Amino acid sequence: MRTQYCGELRGDRAGQTVTLFGWVDRRRDHGGVIFLDLRDRSGTVQIVSDPERTPEIYALAESLRNEYVIKVQGTVTLRPEDSLNPKIATGEVEVYAEAIEVLNAVRQQLPFQVSSADAESVREELRLKYRYLDLRRERMRSNLLLRHEIVKTVRRYLEDVQGFIEVETPILTRSTPEGARDYLVPSRANPGEWFALPQSPQLFKQLLMVSGFDRYYQVARCFRDEDLRADRQPEFTQLDMEMSFMSQAEIMELNEGLMRHLFKTVKGIDLPETFPRMTYTEAMDRYGTDRPDVRFGLELADVSDLFQTSGFKVFSGAIAQGGVVKVLSIPGGNDRFSNVRIKPGGDIFRVASEGGAKGLAYIRIREGGEIDTIGAIKDNLAPDQIATLLERTQAQTGDLLLFGAGATDVVNASLARVRLAVGQELELIDPDCVSLLWVVDFPMFEWNADEKRLEALHHPFTAPLPEDRHDLKTARAQAYDLVYNGLEIGGGSLRIYEPELQEQVFAAIGLSEAEAQNKFGFLLEAFNYGTPPHGGIAYGLDRLVMLLSGEESIRDTIAFPKTQQARCLMTQAPSDVDAKQLKELQIRSTVQQPPKA
Ligand code: AMO
Repeated sequence: MRTQYCGELRGDRAGQTVTLFGWVDRRRDHGGVIFLDLRDRSGTVQIVSDPERTPEIYALAESLRNEYVIKVQGTVTLRPEDSLNPKIATGEVEVYAEAIEVLNAVRQQLPFQVSSADAESVREELRLKYRYLDLRRERMRSNLLLRHEIVKTVRRYLEDVQGFIEVETPILTRSTPEGARDYLVPSRANPGEWFALPQSPQLFKQLLMVSGFDRYYQVARCFRDEDLRADRQPEFTQLDMEMSFMSQAEIMELNEGLMRHLFKTVKGIDLPETFPRMTYTEAMDRYGTDRPDVRFGLELADVSDLFQTSGFKVFSGAIAQGGVVKVLSIPGGNDRFSNVRIKPGGDIFRVASEGGAKGLAYIRIREGGEIDTIGAIKDNLAPDQIATLLERTQAQTGDLLLFGAGATDVVNASLARVRLAVGQELELIDPDCVSLLWVVDFPMFEWNADEKRLEALHHPFTAPLPEDRHDLKTARAQAYDLVYNGLEIGGGSLRIYEPELQEQVFAAIGLSEAEAQNKFGFLLEAFNYGTPPHGGIAYGLDRLVMLLSGEESIRDTIAFPKTQQARCLMTQAPSDVDAKQLKELQIRSTVQQPPKA
């Protein structure tokens, strides 16, 4: 039997005999004595094989190779003063091996070194292909342990302190409208019909409120077939919550308590009693995004009024078409950002164009308030306009003004990206600063230009602000997002619980009565049988772990993630299936040649 895990051994065990199991992290021969680092999920400990003390196992110790699986029996000994290793938790002890047994050898060359002593950087494709080896490495080991710590802390707090209960909801279900494409599963028993994997447990958790299971939570797997980014996976985990008879303020307060407890317990970080709140409109005006990173300034200023009648048609034309002109003022930006970087082909231009901008106009502030820019702008700016512009932007000598002109959403998206890139380059972001911000009062709907209809900004079950109910199309929602250092980690809302209002919202997004009945008839009917006022929130668990572990990709927080191409490199999923399986499902592919995995 194992007496303890390798990483648990401390000086208080000195003199005791222990039995350990693990992997040979590495072996070093030192003047006749062999040192082994033995590793398991808890860490490593040094094993010593001394030919004088235990000659019978020395030869065996010599034959061990990296990643062999072994059993070791030995005596815990305090290391001599000059060989203490403060870098590892077990660094004050070593185990003198009295017996070693090889349980399994490595039969093939390892695709990469596992030991963290080999600071080898390994390509992500290789890490994902041999994920089971990658998970043995220190980085992934500590990320998965942190993930476990986070889930455990959340469960204890929600269940023991706040009285939540966990209920599982189906994975084979109907499509829920969270805005992404569904993953579909054919039903063999019902040919021609399909299940959808849940994009979130949204409808089930609302129905649990109708059932009276107030204070539900779930660590819930969600599936969304959308374009992948560093912070998105096709299957990801939500920490999902729903509660009845609580106001928006009470729900936010409860969640502040949860986050305070979590950050303190797993990271020792003290968060404020209440988190700052910002309305959606303010966030868009000042930062151009609904998830602003407020750890640094560089706010945007709307200068549309200055350019309404400007002879510079790029500006006045944008305003005439209902757009805006906004400016990002970069203190000391003249020296850092050359014209080459701002013009087409430059890196800052590229960042802006990712947000949809076709160009970035600029003005450089020179000595004595002189401005330096292209003739078309300079010739159309009167001295009093320049003075107002400088006053509005607080710009000084040496500063650079970057302008976005066009449709409001494009200008915001472009300048928000440029703001982040500039903030990072100028190192304006304190990496130790933790900022949690509520963004509130989202609009109920946004315009989908492709489909020429309104669509729900969050989801169509979100309740409008009571004072805005008279005109749903322009109403604000009782919705709230939690933003952590510029990344959306959670979002929720108070829900509609009256069937009449729910029908009006379906109508506003262009869902006919028949379609609404067909898709959500069960929900509308349930609302007739005594529905409590309710609301909830869901956190992206993987994103939370990513931020708390300091990783830049959520793939590094998930044991077996998918690539950006939505593939699993280890199992080679997705893959083709037997013709027999398809036949049973009555499905025929229209793909001419299935792509080779
Ligand atoms: P929402 O769609 O905002 O809300 O999702 C909640 C949180 O889930 C995370 N998230 C993702 N994480 C990784 N990969 C993805 N593809 C992905 N998509 C979303 C984000 C996000 O904040 N039912 C509502 C919640 C509610 O109203 O209670 C919902 O799903 O961190």
